[in-house]
Amino acid sequence: MSPFPVLRRLHADDFTSGEQLAEALNVSRASISLALRDAAELGVSIESRHGKGYRLHRPVDWLEESVVASHLGTALRFFDLRCFDEIDSTNAALIKAAHDGAPSGMVYAAEYQTAGRGRRGRQWRGELGGTLMYSLLWRFNLGLADLSGLSLAVGLAVVRALQSLGVSGAQLKWPNDIVCDAGKLGGILIELAGEAHGPVAAVLGIGLNVRMSDDNRAAIDQPVATLDDLGLKSTRNQLLACLLRELADVLNAFSHGGFSPLLKEWESHHRWHGQPVSMLMPDGSKIQGTVVGVSDEGALKLACEDGIRQFHSGEVSLRGAA
Ligand code: BTN
Repeated sequence: MSPFPVLRRLHADDFTSGEQLAEALNVSRASISLALRDAAELGVSIESRHGKGYRLHRPVDWLEESVVASHLGTALRFFDLRCFDEIDSTNAALIKAAHDGAPSGMVYAAEYQTAGRGRRGRQWRGELGGTLMYSLLWRFNLGLADLSGLSLAVGLAVVRALQSLGVSGAQLKWPNDIVCDAGKLGGILIELAGEAHGPVAAVLGIGLNVRMSDDNRAAIDQPVATLDDLGLKSTRNQLLACLLRELADVLNAFSHGGFSPLLKEWESHHRWHGQPVSMLMPDGSKIQGTVVGVSDEGALKLACEDGIRQFHSGEVSLRGAA
């Protein structure tokens, strides 16, 4: 059996006995033991005490569709949300759903991904109950070329949401990482399907580190930070609702005017605006320059020795020179 029904019945402040769990779920004690072992493999820390039962080391802030919906306000009409306990990748699943006709505004969120995807073919590791992982399908009556600034626009929506929830110090790193001084807070993976001249189905995958155990931090090959570190007080349900509200605003604006109206605001949040950086090229070489801004298409503009050069995301990677 899946470990999730068992996990959802455990608390951090009180023990629940194996007998209670078996009875509530109508399964054997042996099934409960196996489910608890699987839960531990998902990274959940469970304390077991003889004669008392089991309790969580830390409470899990579960995602609940109805709670997210209750925080969406008037933006509720744009979205149709499904929360999964476990899925391969919310992006992969939503791409399949889009092929099968899922409507614009469909959201898949997951507590755990077995094959989370990051940019440039990398794996994305999330922590059960600690990372917010979701994907949003948005359909555009625009051509593929018109969507080049989309990934920056999505980053802006994320930063707006974090600011409105009182998180201070979250910034953007071109093209669309969410960062703070201490490291990466989250990332965005956009996958597009459609015709050159439109329409296009965009799957916007977002992963944000809300809280993270020391073990998971250590297992990630770059400095990471969490929204808890930056003072987030909201639950993941409130955070998801706020992100979706800001996304609805930004995506509706983008559909009408593209990235240009959002450009200056984006630059104001860019971690490296006006600073020296180097661009790591696909062949391993580096190009040095100072960030002067981004273009209407979302390209990064660098003042280099030989003048202003523009870089498009995809193969290049930005590194701070500081
Ligand atoms: C990055 O490499 O920075 C992008 C990470 C994007 C991760 C999110 S988690 C939800 C969605 N589903 C995935 O498989 N990936 C994205």
